[in-house]
Amino acid sequence: MQVRWSHSVLKVRDIEAMIAFYTDMLDFVVADRGPLPLPGEPEIVFLSGSSSDHHQLALTDGRGEEDASSLEHNAFRVESLTDVKTMIDKVSKDPRVKSHMPLTHGNAISVYFSDPEGNGIEVFCDSPWHVKQPAAQGWDPTMSDEEVLADVKAKFENDSEFRPMEEYRAAKAREFGEV
Ligand SMILES: [Fe+2]
Repeated sequence: MQVRWSHSVLKVRDIEAMIAFYTDMLDFVVADRGPLPLPGEPEIVFLSGSSSDHHQLALTDGRGEEDASSLEHNAFRVESLTDVKTMIDKVSKDPRVKSHMPLTHGNAISVYFSDPEGNGIEVFCDSPWHVKQPAAQGWDPTMSDEEVLADVKAKFENDSEFRPMEEYRAAKAREFGEV
């Protein structure tokens, strides 16, 4: 299985200052932003400068003074849902991984877990659709690939921005001057 770098998510203390810094310095644009369904509803802001990824960097304002590290997670893309299921099987059998969580953001089908020092990892495959972020639901790795895709579609097809991923990426490619 080949994993390819996609994005990182950082916990920050001054989210507006950090958005300004990354948009000024790296020419990122805000792709989406909104509250996470977590205690205190911390905001997450998604930044990207490429049509390849909905976000290349995301910032959440959930970093407390006690958080030594700013890293929420690093994310890696795999080719297929089968690869994500294989990863789930692998981490579920490895005692170094204390827990894992299958989650789908509608535009991706993911598993989250942590390395032995507590750094978050997301391994995901793209779904065929774009969905406004943030969005998250559970998914069942025991389902067939076809059942998982039907389940993801059913969970997100009423989203206001639900559309084919190709359409979203083509629009972003024009926005970023790639074509
Ligand atoms: Fe992620």
